[in-house]
Amino acid sequence: MKLLITLMLLCAASGAAADPFPKGNAQNGKKLFDQYRCNQCHDTIMGGDGNKIFTRIKSKVRSASDLIDQIGVCSGNVGANFSAQDKQDLGAYLNRYYKLK
Ligand code: HEC
Repeated sequence: MKLLITLMLLCAASGAAADPFPKGNAQNGKKLFDQYRCNQCHDTIMGGDGNKIFTRIKSKVRSASDLIDQIGVCSGNVGANFSAQDKQDLGAYLNRYYKLK
């Protein structure tokens, strides 16, 4: 039993270190992203594929907290009032591009 608990704790700890959005649900993030049409401006800015804004060489996002901040800024663009959980979900989804650790 002790061994089992130790193993579970180890897994939880290593999981948190590897994932900057441990409580984020990427599937829900994608849903929000589509629902609020987040790429409507990004498509224009990037001349077609808005997702390219997330992999720009001069990306504004260097860390998980940068990403959460930018999601907060851009949420104003779509008139959304995202909860902390929504932002985590969007972060978890967008991290498919950023691959932040
Ligand atoms: C009204 C237009 C508009 C909408 C709608 C919009 N954005 Fe943005 N977004 C921008 C602009 C402009 C930038 C680039 C800002 C800059 O380069 O200073 C940007 C940049 C970003 C970036 C950073 C890209 C990078 O790595 O440099 C993220 C992340 C982002 N937006 C997320 C979102 C999310 C999530 C939504 C939907 C909730 C959203 N945006 C909706 C205009 C918009």
